[in-house]
Amino acid sequence: MTTTTGTEAPDAALSVRDVSLRFGGITVLDGVSFDAPRGGILGLVGPNGAGKTSLFNCISGHYQPTAGSILVNGTETVRTRAWRMAQLGLARTFQHPALRLDATVLENVMLGAHSWLPGGPVSWSLRLPATRRQEREARATALELLDRTGLAWAASMPADELSHGLHKGVELCRALLSRPRLLLLDEPAAGLSHGEVEALIGTVREVRREFELTVVVVEHHMGLISALTDRVVVLDHGAKLMEGTAAEAQSDSRVVEAYLGKEAAADESA
Ligand SMILES: Nc1ncnc2c1ncn2[C@@H]1O[C@H](COP(=O)(O)OP(=O)(O)O)[C@@H](O)[C@H]1O
Ligand SMILES: [Mg+2]
Repeated sequence: MTTTTGTEAPDAALSVRDVSLRFGGITVLDGVSFDAPRGGILGLVGPNGAGKTSLFNCISGHYQPTAGSILVNGTETVRTRAWRMAQLGLARTFQHPALRLDATVLENVMLGAHSWLPGGPVSWSLRLPATRRQEREARATALELLDRTGLAWAASMPADELSHGLHKGVELCRALLSRPRLLLLDEPAAGLSHGEVEALIGTVREVRREFELTVVVVEHHMGLISALTDRVVVLDHGAKLMEGTAAEAQSDSRVVEAYLGKEAAADESA
């Protein structure tokens, strides 16, 4: 189902229009609109509780917005369930990764292939001839992705033997194996060391170019946001506060105030 409302940018991989989300009496998102231009990296920033993860949940079909429209590559998706979003070219990582801890790292990454491998885990385990070649292809790509993210050494380890920070890398590989066009990353740098953040910046740049991705990244790490993003959207209390470059956002008094609180912001500028 392709819908054009006439308001979305023609080259947007993602158009969020007037999205609101309420739970009972609580307004979590309040009329949020923005576009993620195709091929770009958009930052989504704002203090804890601003609604960033909830907005990702709306885009990925885990939450259904109370109002508004979300177009992924021009297709209205607000009524599309999360498990179908991979077929529309969307993949995400989670703020708190939930890997299958009893499965190996490679098996966890392989789950990302479910949207394009024929059959499913049952036919893979039966090793039906038709699926064997594609399964081999998926496995080779999974190993390549693990190698690229510096995790090849862990491929056959049970996921629960890996540190929490490394789970994010495994999730990134799983997301990339689904062959997305639009990738949502929720706090990918949280818990990583300085060196690991630098490596992550390199990896995101590289895969964006190579897989022709559009990326939307939620992150508090301003070094990563400045290094990676073309634009940022700032959320505060569920509403869009401003949109601009990372530098513009960092010097915007409303943004400083949102992060520090009014009084602290006044002290800062004094
Ligand atoms: N399923 C839910 N039920 C009720 N409140 C929720 C739910 N999901 C998120 N919220 C609320 O939405 C607000 C924004 O949370 P979140 O989207 O996680 O913010 P952020 O990712 O910016 O830190 C919080 O107040 C949170 O408690
Ligand atoms: Mg969050």
